[in-house]
Amino acid sequence: MPETWWRGAAIYQVYLRSFADGNGDGIGDLAGLRSRLPYLADLGVNAVWLNPWYPSPMADGGYDVADYRDIEPSFGTLEEAEKFIQEAHELGIKVIIDVVPNHSSDQSQWFQEALAAGPGSAARNRFWFQDEPGDWKSIFGGPAWSQVADGQWYLHLFAPEQPDFNWTNPEVHQEFHDVLRFWFDRGVDGIRIDSAAVLVKDFAGGDPDGYTDQLEVHDVYRSWRSLAEEYDGRIFIGEVWFPDQERFARYLRPDELHTAFNFDFLACPWNPAALRRSIQETMTTHIPLGAPPTWVLSNHDVARVVTRYGREDTSWDHGARRDGVPADLELGYRRSRAAALLAMALPGSVYIYQGEELGLPEVDDIPGELRQDPIWSRSGFTIPGRDGCRVPLPWSGGERPFGFGAGEPWLPQPEAWNKLTAEAQTQDLGSMLTLYRSALAIRRDQLGDGTLTWLDTAPEVLAFSRESGLTCVVNLGPEPVRLPPHTSVLLASGPLEGEELPTDTAVWLV
Ligand code: NOJ
Repeated sequence: MPETWWRGAAIYQVYLRSFADGNGDGIGDLAGLRSRLPYLADLGVNAVWLNPWYPSPMADGGYDVADYRDIEPSFGTLEEAEKFIQEAHELGIKVIIDVVPNHSSDQSQWFQEALAAGPGSAARNRFWFQDEPGDWKSIFGGPAWSQVADGQWYLHLFAPEQPDFNWTNPEVHQEFHDVLRFWFDRGVDGIRIDSAAVLVKDFAGGDPDGYTDQLEVHDVYRSWRSLAEEYDGRIFIGEVWFPDQERFARYLRPDELHTAFNFDFLACPWNPAALRRSIQETMTTHIPLGAPPTWVLSNHDVARVVTRYGREDTSWDHGARRDGVPADLELGYRRSRAAALLAMALPGSVYIYQGEELGLPEVDDIPGELRQDPIWSRSGFTIPGRDGCRVPLPWSGGERPFGFGAGEPWLPQPEAWNKLTAEAQTQDLGSMLTLYRSALAIRRDQLGDGTLTWLDTAPEVLAFSRESGLTCVVNLGPEPVRLPPHTSVLLASGPLEGEELPTDTAVWLV
């Protein structure tokens, strides 16, 4: 029987730079993460996913990989990474890492070789070099082509420091097979595939159709899947970000990826009809393929959920980030507590982005000169970008850096986070952290993989039951609603009013 741990897992996303700093240089690292493994075990997650941990000039927070077979020195060493994998496994926590196959760093050995070898060389053919620039735009703003000293131009869908690989070159295929084996052999349980749908380019196609979801990309994942099948229980999670459910589903065919991030759910506004549609469509897409859905409320690329749900427009649009749009944080906090119970009750796996369990809001007031996201500079300093959801975590104490580490954190933490530290929330039975811990403990035995049955309710209420008998009810309407018949209340995201469920509140019943 192949291992199926991933089908119902609660997966905690670790943005290493901002998780915990073990050596006092202000940057999160493996030593910090290893020291906090007991926290993750207590929280009750089944797996962690780490953003890229490879040597990187950090032009895009590590998504500019200089060497796929080593660890970024400011994060630690390969030996420490191996120890971390072992220690996580001892605590029953699986390890998922990020692989970035669309592009590397301009400091990678291959790109440096390509620059040195010159036009027409085999080394240049691992990337996309041409004599004239194309007209595609970079996803981070500005043109997608940059010129090198000898006059040729190379393609980078993201920052200029992230040259795109040429996936028509068999050497590129071979390289990534070797990289996958390198990490599977070291015990890694899963791979999150960055920008999974854009590897293959058709320059005759427009922008973005010429690189989005080309048919040949599926051949890549078929071959990766057969490689993974040589091991036990190793999985792929695709970062596949487009709304067309039919095209999305193609990545989840039984001989391709195991799961993919559900960005439709993440982008969905806090609205009962929209959420019901998203959940329903997700289930309809996944069930025939036998693939478990994933439920994602936030990650390192989007505004934090407490802030999003407190805005007038609660939807998320990657192309129109709404950075700095004012938010009612009390309202957003209340809704995100309810959303957490909703996401954790749904069938499949759930992702928790670090700090979500602390109810952290987006940090909107990072001074421009401290911002590091390339979106900020490439937009001509008009779009602040993603630093606001990447601020180092507050662990303990009343003063900055709140136990993050001994040094000055690489991004400043708000003073008001003294109330949001993990330490403060551990003592507080009404905190977000306590809610997540309690929910994950219940989820472990009673939820996860499976199906759901909708209950008949008013349109502003979402209610469904799971195989275990647990019923989740969420009230998204303006008025309290009566709870359905039940024996007991297992958990509620906020206080109940007798037998009534207040607005923006969720409850788990049996
Ligand atoms: C998606 C990642 O999540 C994001 O952080 C990164 O900037 C782009 N892919 C490019 O690698």
